Amino acid sequence: MQGVETVDLTNPASFAEGPPHAFYDWLREEHPVWWHPSETLCAPGFWVVTRYHDVIAVERDWRTFSSGARGALLEDQQAGTELMMLNQDPPQHTRLRNLVARAFTPKVIRSLEPHIREAARRIVDRVAGRDEVIDFVTELSAELPLVVIAELLGIPIEDRHKVFEWSNKMIGANDPEYGTGGMEAASAASLELYAYAQGLADARRERPLDDIVTMLVNAELDGERLSDVEFNVFVLLLSVAGNETTRNLISGGMLALFEHPEEYERLRADPEGLLPTAVDEMLRWVSPVRYFRRTVTADTELHGVPLRAGDALTVQYAAANRDPRVFDDPHRFDVGRTPNEHIAFGGRGPHYCLGAALAKVEIVAMFDEILRRLPDLRRAGAPQYLQSTLINGIRHLPVRFTPER
Ligand code: HEM
Repeated sequence: MQGVETVDLTNPASFAEGPPHAFYDWLREEHPVWWHPSETLCAPGFWVVTRYHDVIAVERDWRTFSSGARGALLEDQQAGTELMMLNQDPPQHTRLRNLVARAFTPKVIRSLEPHIREAARRIVDRVAGRDEVIDFVTELSAELPLVVIAELLGIPIEDRHKVFEWSNKMIGANDPEYGTGGMEAASAASLELYAYAQGLADARRERPLDDIVTMLVNAELDGERLSDVEFNVFVLLLSVAGNETTRNLISGGMLALFEHPEEYERLRADPEGLLPTAVDEMLRWVSPVRYFRRTVTADTELHGVPLRAGDALTVQYAAANRDPRVFDDPHRFDVGRTPNEHIAFGGRGPHYCLGAALAKVEIVAMFDEILRRLPDLRRAGAPQYLQSTLINGIRHLPVRFTPER
């Protein structure tokens, strides 16, 4: 390989300086289906798929590329997670997805929007008067996704910090700061969250309210309803899937603006006109989920490379979202980019992100508030990246601004 070093995608430390784009480019152009040897995670290794159209083809062909066989992550599945829809194939997946999709209809999302706007306002209220360096991640981007999931599930305010902590422990198991307890703390956190979810479900069965949890635990669809354990696992999935992704999109999107001052200026000059395209560009640029895994179910081939039944394979969203076959000048950050058919929410298969519309409402609300209220928000130090093989995240991003009077 010329001038590009192979990156170990199974080592969280490989992401300490951000996503390895030079490596992704090399793979996408030279080895679109590359065998990643591994002695630790997923030994003896797995295929790495980096081209946009290949990611979509793999995700759509769920019969050949299964999520159910061994799960959607490189890590071995923990007991119970096979009940998560992310780790299932149709028809089990379809049943579960139809049951929970009722919590994500356009009507539900419209009804949440005023709360989301209000929550974004309160978050900015808390920092707007401060004349000091603050951490963008903990003070601005971390809170909203958490509040929204808590709102969606009817979790009382006083319990929200617990859900935040459990979620941090589960996602950052191998990050030096978040995951001090490693996998053990992550498993303990997920057990606590299950128990908490069970309490929520029990409370709503006893005293039904006009809310989503009541709907999820009581309502039937074609004679089907969620079992207790399915509900608990769904709460766990939401707490991880909806939280870290959105938080890191907001942080990473802000960092992209700092790194591209002309684009930042353009957006500030016309937030109403440009926010919708800017948010999609942030999603493409950041790609908060790096990869998901599939398992090959029958011998097949891709670009002439033979894949064997049982092989593990990953689709790499961050690489696909910079595929020059689809995106003009893909390494340019352009807040007005159109078209922009990025696949940060997945490659349009059965697992396409259930929370995509909700996430966009959150991101728009947050940037709308930030751009108006903290117009000279600027970087006051280097970002510290989250060391995770799954999530492209930022742990800390010091910023400052002229305080609001
Ligand atoms: C910027 C924010 C987000 C990003 C980048 C993101 C990304 C993704 C991706 C890549 C997938 C897998 C897609 C596939 O395999 O085709 C996914 C699935 C999922 N996401 Fe998101 N997500 C985000 C926010 C959210 C939010 C806010 C929620 C809920 C509150 C959510 C809930 C889910 C669920 C439940 C699934 C599994 C769907 C299934 O298996 O059918 N996500 N997301």
